[in-house]
Amino acid sequence: MGNDFISRVEDEEIVKLRKEFSANVSHELKTPLTSISGYAEIMKSGMVNREDMIVFSERIYKEASRMIALIDDIIKLSKLDEDSVEVEHEDVDLYELAGDIVERLAMSARKRSVCVELSGEPVVLYGVKQVLDEMIFNLCENAIKYNVPGGKVKLWVGQTPEGVKIIVEDTGIGIPKDQQERVFERFYRVDKSHSRETGGTGLGLSIVKHGAMLHHAQIKVDSEIGKGTKMEVIF
Ligand SMILES: Nc1ncnc2c1ncn2[C@@H]1O[C@H](COP(=O)(O)OP(=O)(O)OP(=O)(O)O)[C@@H](O)[C@H]1O
Ligand SMILES: [Mg+2]
Repeated sequence: MGNDFISRVEDEEIVKLRKEFSANVSHELKTPLTSISGYAEIMKSGMVNREDMIVFSERIYKEASRMIALIDDIIKLSKLDEDSVEVEHEDVDLYELAGDIVERLAMSARKRSVCVELSGEPVVLYGVKQVLDEMIFNLCENAIKYNVPGGKVKLWVGQTPEGVKIIVEDTGIGIPKDQQERVFERFYRVDKSHSRETGGTGLGLSIVKHGAMLHHAQIKVDSEIGKGTKMEVIF
């Protein structure tokens, strides 16, 4: 009985999220495309000098990259929506996966002078590897992106009395209390200008949230402005 109620609430929430999503997605795709179209229009006149040509091409390239990243995320989310991910369940060592993700993020951490540390213990979870990968990746990517130069990211993976746990803790800018729930909404960003500059689309945490739902996991957020953020996923 209790479980029934929970799943009905989740269904309603998913329907609501889907509606918001289609409205936002057109807007989010239109913005970079308008900019690409604008630069192309100027360039096709043939009156643009060599220097400007390089600058404009660079901007077109950046906006196009943004669109590709956005479409990739949308594809991931619609796959999660389809409930078709059931098939791919397997035993996944989360610690090993976390190590792999830390390596993949090493370059962007270095660029921002952020130090990433992994600790914990090998722990096996029966789940969808690709989705678990995206969850840990997005949490760590945020912890690096919304950090300060010289900041730290601590990633912990292991077994606890509460269950298998992933903890991502950063010394970054923090999330205002009244927005700590909203950041899991699709396209929601605390500081739109900062996110745009860092290339964010606001889909990362909704992928994390959907991934958690798929694995019947719980997400806990603890964050303080100017001090940092701690996110826990409990399976
Ligand atoms: N560790 C964090 N510290 C501070 N703010 C955060 C953190 N993680 C997320 N946020 C805030 O929550 C917003 C939503 O995060 P989310 O990962 O969904 O999107 P994004 O990082 O902007 O873009 P994307 O992940 O799609 O590239 C971010 O724009 C940022 O404002
Ligand atoms: Mg993100």
